[in-house]
Amino acid sequence: MPVLKILTLPDPRLKKQSSRVKKIDDAILRLLEDMAQTMYDAPGVGLAAPQVGKNVRVIVVDVEQSEEGDTNLIELINPEITQSEGKASGEEACLSIPGFTAEVKRKSNITVEGLNRDGKKIRIEATELLSRVFQHEIDHLDGILFVDRLSRLKRELIKKKIKKAFSENN
Ligand code: NI
Repeated sequence: MPVLKILTLPDPRLKKQSSRVKKIDDAILRLLEDMAQTMYDAPGVGLAAPQVGKNVRVIVVDVEQSEEGDTNLIELINPEITQSEGKASGEEACLSIPGFTAEVKRKSNITVEGLNRDGKKIRIEATELLSRVFQHEIDHLDGILFVDRLSRLKRELIKKKIKKAFSENN
């Protein structure tokens, strides 16, 4: 299973709306496997398909990785937040914006529904880190990055810094 290249800003594919998966075929199954491998290799707690250049509604999440090798991989196709309540603020980072973090306001409790690899509908109630990671990854499917969720002043400041950092590297 290859580790895929993770796109970073300012790649325009990160800002695109992703399309729903209509059929779970071999290409989608391979994408799920490659995305999980890429997430663990990074390492990260979540990854969305547009981050590896595929604008389809597929995410992988694992917030239970430990140094002892524990994992709890969640693969979701066409994920949707069907219920949400409460507010929570917490620090976020993104594999597509390496080196940057910010405090982001999210919903605290959410219900996520989507399909697993067998096409079976699954529903997950999430709180704390899992809730935050789902919201972050599902945002990627709509071309939204965590920096887009900041208040205007913070957003302008961090975007200026990001622009500078990524143009110096390229
Ligand atoms: Ni991200």
